[in-house]
Amino acid sequence: MSELIDGKKIAEEVFAECREDIAALAAQGITPGLAVVVVGSDPASLVYVGSKARRCQELGMASFKYELPVETSQAELLALVARLNADETVDGILVQSPPPAHIDEAAVVRAIDPAKDVDGFHPLNVAKLAMEEPDGFVPCTPLGVQRMLLASGIETDGAQVVVLGRSMIVGKPQALLLMAKGRGGNATVTVAHSRTRDLAAVTRSADILIAAIGRPNFVTADMVRDGAVVIDVGINRIADPSARSGTRLVGDVDFVAVAPKCRAITPVPGGVGPMTIAMLMSNTLKAARQRRGLRPWSVRG
Ligand code: GUN
Repeated sequence: MSELIDGKKIAEEVFAECREDIAALAAQGITPGLAVVVVGSDPASLVYVGSKARRCQELGMASFKYELPVETSQAELLALVARLNADETVDGILVQSPPPAHIDEAAVVRAIDPAKDVDGFHPLNVAKLAMEEPDGFVPCTPLGVQRMLLASGIETDGAQVVVLGRSMIVGKPQALLLMAKGRGGNATVTVAHSRTRDLAAVTRSADILIAAIGRPNFVTADMVRDGAVVIDVGINRIADPSARSGTRLVGDVDFVAVAPKCRAITPVPGGVGPMTIAMLMSNTLKAARQRRGLRPWSVRG
């Protein structure tokens, strides 16, 4: 039977580290702050920003939540970002993706001060990841996946990793992170996607398969090598008449069929999801320290 990688437990370890760092900053009179902005009333986005804000408060950070109406203009959103950039009490700024269609998301991301871009989406931070510069911000989901692998003792050094999906939020930064030099990196990375020829043959070559393609139950048992590690980044809501709500969350991996073949696998929910918020908190603390010229970590190494 495969090992189940418990994202909630590993996220709690990250939160415990955050609490230590927040206490050390508090002793210096510093309260880190995160601003989360959501435009429109997409229910999933509202749930995500709500849980980010709650987690900040629970850890002892300041949180500033902006729920803007769907008709908010590009100019209004850019004006808010400019205000948050200038606000000394704000260390991190996150604009929930995806915004409504009339918003130019790339322009909004470019408007965020890179030193407060705790999502790691600004072109400067993308470049810093590619150039392996440690003071940049790495997107939270790929950073969480790397942390899960490290916490589970899964060696990436020399491993064949296949990343399924090429998004700017997960696929591309995940590939850059795992191919970078050093601990948690040094992997041989292949990025596969919906247009990859003979996809199953490619995914079967993986020691570690990271599914981030956004399609429910896309990865089937024939696509996974015996003994592989499978990380499921997908969060898909599908109809389920047997559930009380009529829907249920599933990943990109057909868990029931794939799990018995794996050395280790992440569940959905309770796998990668909790790690994303944990790394957001960790990135916000990094921003708070770097903006004040402090060492990256107050407590550890
Ligand atoms: N939407 C889905 N994931 C993310 C994320 O990590 N950051 C932001 N800003 N939006 C998202």
